[in-house]
Amino acid sequence: MQKKINIAIDGYSSCGKGTLAKALAQSLGYLFIDSGAMYRAVTLHMLQNGVDVNDESAVVQALDDVRVGFVNNAEQQSEVTLNGVSVEKEIRNIEVAAHVSEVARIQAVRTKMVALQQVIGEPKGVVMDGRDIGTVVFPDAELKIFMTASQEVRARRRYEELVAKGDDVTLAEIAENLKHRDTIDANRENSPLTLTNDYRVLDNSHLSREAQFVLAMGWVDEAIG
Ligand code: CDP
Repeated sequence: MQKKINIAIDGYSSCGKGTLAKALAQSLGYLFIDSGAMYRAVTLHMLQNGVDVNDESAVVQALDDVRVGFVNNAEQQSEVTLNGVSVEKEIRNIEVAAHVSEVARIQAVRTKMVALQQVIGEPKGVVMDGRDIGTVVFPDAELKIFMTASQEVRARRRYEELVAKGDDVTLAEIAENLKHRDTIDANRENSPLTLTNDYRVLDNSHLSREAQFVLAMGWVDEAIG
């Protein structure tokens, strides 16, 4: 049997990490894990319970009541759960996006999520996307991909995605949110998004889904050997 590897996909907000991660996982028969969904679920809990996300000690206290996990839906797609209930839809709204980077910068939140991510990745055969997967969660991942795309392309893609779902958002507010999150995510003290030289860089501003998949599968083949 072919050896199983872990694939880490990191990069800026809304540059298609999830799309590529899902496609790779499906083609390889691997598990896809959206680590951002976990931070979004924690954020949703804080918002639902009126916790001020800028009050670190309040967030840390409320964290004790948070259990994040994954379940498969009827289409066999994984959905994130908060205290046993799927919150896959709720975590994608702009309110959660507006506060998630404040929550994700808190070390206690990261420690709890990373521990779970490492348990999931232990048997290998996982494609996980996020900000610190190749640097902190799976520093020994056999393949690390750093994805990026121009700010305009990223904002437009996320805007179209949300509008298609019926959300009432503007392109300007999406662009502002992406900038806000990228600034915090790349500059925070704990596990900032960092491009180290063991990543393969994939700029998909001008690449189709198919083209980026073919490129990444070439790297997978090399990594599996
Ligand atoms: O899909 P999108 O690029 O909008 O973001 P996401 O992957 O859902 O992540 C949402 C937020 O969670 C990010 O902006 C980060 O603040 C945080 N995050 C993180 O800190 N570490 C990760 N491994 C994944 C996400």
